[in-house]
Parts: sequence; structure tokens; C-alpha cells
Amino acid sequence: MAGNWKMYKTPAETTAFFEKFRPLVEKAEHCEIVICPPFTNLAAAVGAAKGTRISVGSQNVAWAKEGAFTGEISGPMLKAVGVAHAIVGHSERRQYFGETDETVLKRAQAALEFGLTPIVCVGERLEERESGSTEAVLTRQFQKGIAGLTAAQFAKIVIAYEPVWAIGTGKTATPEMAADAHRAIRAQVQAAFGHAAGDAIRILYGGSVKPDNVKTLMAQTEIDGVLVGGASLDPVGFASIVNF
Ligand code: PGA
Repeated sequence: MAGNWKMYKTPAETTAFFEKFRPLVEKAEHCEIVICPPFTNLAAAVGAAKGTRISVGSQNVAWAKEGAFTGEISGPMLKAVGVAHAIVGHSERRQYFGETDETVLKRAQAALEFGLTPIVCVGERLEERESGSTEAVLTRQFQKGIAGLTAAQFAKIVIAYEPVWAIGTGKTATPEMAADAHRAIRAQVQAAFGHAAGDAIRILYGGSVKPDNVKTLMAQTEIDGVLVGGASLDPVGFASIVNF
């Protein structure tokens, strides 16, 4: 159960979130819990999560170890502050910041090289769904992106299926729609990496997940977890998602 805070909260607000959130998820042993705040809050989040089962993730990671890459943050820098996961290829990065399938692969490779678990996002836009090309888009994103990982690398990643039209819009994919997309992604994984890899890969659903729809989404066997934006900002709301 992962929360993506996007560009919200200060370090003080991060600490306040954790104070409320921690006791509410103390008994949640059925899942991993990951919070991905902005870079400036990572140290505060790691400090506040110490001694709990909550891990902290970043919302991006550079493809290089270090160098002349203004505005980027590298895997070793993230590891040094105690970060465990990195979201890669979020649709907002693809849409507004020029992220491509190729750079998604490079970032995922770098995350793995430096010991971070990448949460790699894929998903179609509204016009792609409406024109019936959802599967073709997911296939392209897979083939040009994470299919380039080795089998050993692939075994360590998490995929998030996030239909772009469902993100921040209040329009959730129906559980059946999400499950169909997850099946299509899993089929790609099986074709590229074999059946065991297809069974083992964890695929999260993201896009307007809320406390009141998480149960029906998680009831789909294809859905292994959720990546939550807006509803992860509130400690009580996100705790109720975690404890669905
Ligand atoms: P949302 O965002 O839950 O606010 O729709 C999901 C995401 O972008 O990861």
C-alpha cells in the first residue's frame, strides 16, 4: 500500500502526518506500507518512520550515480538518507517532464543498481482508452521500458498500473477494468520473463483510490496493492486504506 504525496507537504507537516499515522497502522502486518513524499521531506519521513514497518520512497530517481544533472537526485543520495523505494515513470513525469519509456528503463536500472525498489508506473491516457488502444499502450510501455531489465532485476520491481484518466479525477477504473489491465500486463511479463515471474510480480492499481473503494479493488485477485495520491495525504484516510 503506497502513498504518493506528489508536491504536497513541508517537513513539519510530514512529521505531523507520521505522528497520527503511525499508531493507526501499527497492527497492519498484511502488507508493506510505503510513503513517497517530496525529496525535501524524505529525511523527516525516514526519521519519523524509524522503528515502524513503514518504508519511505522517493517520487523519482536519476539514471546516473552523480554528475552534471541539475535538478536530479541520485540513488546513492536517496540510500544515504534511508530511502527504500523510488517511483519511476509516473504519468505526471511522462506528461509534463518529458519522461519516456527509455528514460523509465534507465531510471529503473539505476534504482536497482543502487539498492532501491522501483515502483514502475504504466497506464493509458483517456483518448487511448477510448480508441481501444489500452493494451497496445501497455505493451509498448512494457516492451520499450522494463522488458529491458534482466530477469534478476525484474524480480525486484513493483509495477503500478495507473490509467491517466483516473488520476486525481475522482474517476476510478472499475475493479474489472483494472483487473483486465493487470492481466494484460501480467501476460506481457510471462511472455518476457516466464510464468513464475508473471505469478510473482506485484502489480498495484492507482487512480482515485479512496477509503470507500479500496475494498472492491483489493477484492480482485489481480490487484496486489494500491498506489494512492490525494487520499494518502490524510493520515486517517490513508490508514483506513491500509487497513481496508
Ligand atoms: P490519485 O493519484 O490517487 O490522486 O488519483 C494516484 C497517483 O497519481 O499515484
